[in-house]
Amino acid sequence: MSPLSISTDVLIIGSGAAGLSIALELAEHASVTLLSKAAFDSSSTQYAQGGISVVLDDEDSLASHIDDTLIAGAGLGDPDTVEFVVSEGPSRIAWLIEQGVPFTQQVDNKGQLQYHLTREGGHSHRRVIHAEDATGRAIVSTLAAKVKAHPRIKLLERRIAVDLITGAKLNIPITRCLGAYILNKDTGQVETFRARFTLLATGGAGKVYLYSSNPEVATGDGIAMAWRAGCRVANLEFIQFHPTCLYYPDRQHQSFLISEAVRGEGGKLRLPDGSPFMHRFDPREELAPRDIVARAIDHEMKRLGCDCVFLDISHQSSSFITSHFPTIYQRCLQLGYDMVSQPIPVVPSAHYTCGGVMTNQQGATDIDGLYAVGEVAHTGLHGANRMASNSLLECLVYAHSAALDILPQLNEVPLPPELPPWDESRVTDSDEEVVVAHNWDELRRFMWDYVGIVRTTKRLQRAKRRIVLLQGEIEEYYGHFRVTSDLIELRNLAMVAELIIDSALSRKESRGLHYILDYPHQLDKAENTILTPNDNSFFTTLRTTNSG
Ligand code: FAD
Ligand code: SIN
Repeated sequence: MSPLSISTDVLIIGSGAAGLSIALELAEHASVTLLSKAAFDSSSTQYAQGGISVVLDDEDSLASHIDDTLIAGAGLGDPDTVEFVVSEGPSRIAWLIEQGVPFTQQVDNKGQLQYHLTREGGHSHRRVIHAEDATGRAIVSTLAAKVKAHPRIKLLERRIAVDLITGAKLNIPITRCLGAYILNKDTGQVETFRARFTLLATGGAGKVYLYSSNPEVATGDGIAMAWRAGCRVANLEFIQFHPTCLYYPDRQHQSFLISEAVRGEGGKLRLPDGSPFMHRFDPREELAPRDIVARAIDHEMKRLGCDCVFLDISHQSSSFITSHFPTIYQRCLQLGYDMVSQPIPVVPSAHYTCGGVMTNQQGATDIDGLYAVGEVAHTGLHGANRMASNSLLECLVYAHSAALDILPQLNEVPLPPELPPWDESRVTDSDEEVVVAHNWDELRRFMWDYVGIVRTTKRLQRAKRRIVLLQGEIEEYYGHFRVTSDLIELRNLAMVAELIIDSALSRKESRGLHYILDYPHQLDKAENTILTPNDNSFFTTLRTTNSG
């Protein structure tokens, strides 16, 4: 067999919470190949701060967690999905504890050691289990150590998936996903991976925006690949902006998040003159769901023409702040802000992709043999607005249910036949890399300016015209030049940007994270925005309308 052709029972693309958990759950029964396009710990999971929502307190209840999630979701969350995920929560956390994740504990008033639960927006109880303020780092380091030690898991870094391989694409009579073409970033060669099952665990698309809390890897690759392969996507207009990322004048790179747990532990938002303002927007004030807090900040920044607002937790003791938020405290200090004694400057940034590839309760997509788990997926949990700390929970619950679905099929599904190698016969090396960098910058800026926290139809149409032009240029470039990692990501970002814009244009109401001035009210009936790849009518209509 050619070294460029690799076979495995299960191919998992992405090594965040979703990918690492599925790998560990399946590896007892199957050979697993786990890919990451950068280092294994370059993922949103690695940066997760606040924690994981779960009902562990006697005074809390599953019903309350379900209600809070549905309320945050603004009428669009799927009640069955929400109940499923919330009910599975305690057993998934027990699994993480079994793996060795060191969640923060403290002695309660009866002198017993308990897991500390923090509070975040939208939750009516303390129910967020965490490892200090670096929960994601604790999860990744614990699970990755197990993955690396596992004899049946092959972890390959710096491998970026280019496209999925399906029977339909190859024009052969097998109606399944058969694997994927993967660029090896070290050799520059595209390798063919064939697999009985392929799982997308590629995370979200925050990097479609100029300012984002997400790491560089969050370029929507899984959504774009699934769409090109023929999967439906849903609710992509619901992009969550986290209200509080650290503001500093030169924020070109990844914005540093100031966890919602800081507000959960009493942090107040203030205007530059020191006055609080959230009481004017919502009775829950700083702990209202994120869409409300982010919009309030955006509104005040525009009204006053200021660059940021301030988050103030200086009323808490120094020991409380440094023990609860050691990572945030240190990072702020490095940038010249001492949160023990002064308010810190904050702004909203793109944070989470609520929509994604449509899946069922087992994580299965529209294509047999292809699963999507984690932020890449649309399960119905988040509706029009994800409640804080429900995302890691979703990763864990669906990793488990996808694994349970795949296990009994392992002996039934044969390994796909030998697949054709990647065809490079008609391309050359690019002589104009600048095109990629330029288009990337342009895309992220107009998405920020025209498809941001507050939208209008006119701005969305402007964005649509630009994305159509960019898509044309990118596809032409893609057709002529050898693929590089940057080009693959740009192509995917542009694809996802168009899906976000089209979804936003089609929603004629304001709901949850989608706030559009032309349609300020919420319609009586809540409906998902579902886009279907082979249904070109919608896209053609938009292109025709906008080209006039
Ligand atoms: P990720 O963790 O993003 O992992 C994606 C993986 O896919 C990466 O390994 C990446 O390299 C790989 N990948 C992507 N494309 C390709 C490709 N083409 N080929 C190969 N590999 C690819 N949620 C909570 O519930 N609680 C929190 O406290 C919390 N805090 C957060 C803080 C920050 C700063 C951020 C950014 C997010 C936070 N979230 C939180 C959201 C949550 O962290 C993410 O939604 C979740 O971690 C997503 O996990 P995932 O496994 O789906 O994807
Ligand atoms: C945070 O800690 O504020 C992030 C929590 C989340 O995104 O769920």
